[in-house]
Amino acid sequence: MTTTHGSPEAFAWCDRALTEQVLANLVSNALKYSPAGQPVRITTAQEEGQAVCRVADGGPGIPSAEQARLFERFFRGSNAAGTDGIGLGLNIARHLARIQQGDLEVRSAPGEGSVFILRLPAANQEEWPDVTA
Ligand SMILES: Nc1ncnc2c1ncn2[C@@H]1O[C@H](COP(=O)(O)OP(=O)(O)OP(=O)(O)O)[C@@H](O)[C@H]1O
Ligand SMILES: [Mg+2]
Repeated sequence: MTTTHGSPEAFAWCDRALTEQVLANLVSNALKYSPAGQPVRITTAQEEGQAVCRVADGGPGIPSAEQARLFERFFRGSNAAGTDGIGLGLNIARHLARIQQGDLEVRSAPGEGSVFILRLPAANQEEWPDVTA
């Protein structure tokens, strides 16, 4: 697993516990649905007033027909057979992003891995000097 932070660094205006829950969901999915040994890359960036975190894996990718249903409650994809889960993780994660004025989306293609993109309102580091405390 590798992490890379953009310049300028991204600071989000968010609830730490809720955001940790979102990221835990995304990272556990990336590890669960990828072959062992495939890297998972986590990057952060500040883009147009938003703090953006991308969780990218080198797994099997997700067919486009399934991508549309990925955030539904209890939806599990065709690649989920044989893995533990109930299909709630992404539904909850998107909900937690949206109640913080953010969003969660996916970019994926079969054979090319998946990228989950979490967007949250950016925090101005000067206005909130203890934001990393
Ligand atoms: N990184 C990923 N790569 C490939 N498929 C994924 C990935 N993340 C999610 N999926 C697909 O999306 C489906 C829904 O994911 P979600 O996290 O909501 O549920 P789950 O992992 O099956 O169960 P749980 O509720 O325990 O998280 C998964 O069943 C899987 O088919
Ligand atoms: Mg999951």
